[in-house]
Amino acid sequence: MAARKFFVGGNWKMNGDKATIDGIVGFLNASNGNPNVDIVVAPPAPYLASVKAALQHNIKVAAQNAYKVPKGAFTGEISPAMLKDLGLEWVILGHSERRHVFGETDALIADKTVHALESGLQVVFCIGEKLEEREAGKTKEVNFRQLQAIVDKKVDFSKIVIAYEPVWAIGTGKTASPEQAQEVHAWIREFLKEKVSDAVSASTRVIYGGSVTADNAAELAKKPDIDGFLVGGASLKPDFVKIINARN
Ligand code: G3P
Repeated sequence: MAARKFFVGGNWKMNGDKATIDGIVGFLNASNGNPNVDIVVAPPAPYLASVKAALQHNIKVAAQNAYKVPKGAFTGEISPAMLKDLGLEWVILGHSERRHVFGETDALIADKTVHALESGLQVVFCIGEKLEEREAGKTKEVNFRQLQAIVDKKVDFSKIVIAYEPVWAIGTGKTASPEQAQEVHAWIREFLKEKVSDAVSASTRVIYGGSVTADNAAELAKKPDIDGFLVGGASLKPDFVKIINARN
């Protein structure tokens, strides 16, 4: 089985303007990238085309969301077809903010994932439990329920990166410990082995998100089932390059 290539995503969320985004592109281009890492950054939608045109070193651009149909009367939505039209290859789906701020259900996120894959995009599929769910001993139940929604759709996992993002660690500075993250990543891999196949379990990249910084990335990256990161706040700053290079 080939080793899983390290993956580092930068989710800029609803942050930035032309000047600050030029600065982010500047430090990314000055970094020379990393051929051993798949680097994918997700600007806010208005900047997707300009960031894609400006980035070098095979750094890819992802949308932060997309809808479940190619076109139509869906005011405010973006279709995977439009992202492909821009030459994009990735989309983030199921982020906890889409789930818990905007009320996206497992079923909707699964439909979005199926359509994104059918449209030729690769998907960063986000899962994660809330603090109260973890404290109630429901971490496995919640993450497995969220994953089951796409297993039921028989998706092509070779086009999916799973991002485990405990909601209680997102934007809080309370990073999951390497042991906490490794435990859930191993559960996810066991789930894939049981529900899909040994091959999918072994080859699917499972990345961690939730207050990743240049200070904690290296320890997290040492864990066998942590294949990279999905980074929020720290991806807006030059130290993001240290996170990209956390494994080497
Ligand atoms: O998608 C990544 C994001 O949810 C993590 O945010 O700011 O805790 O790194 P942050």
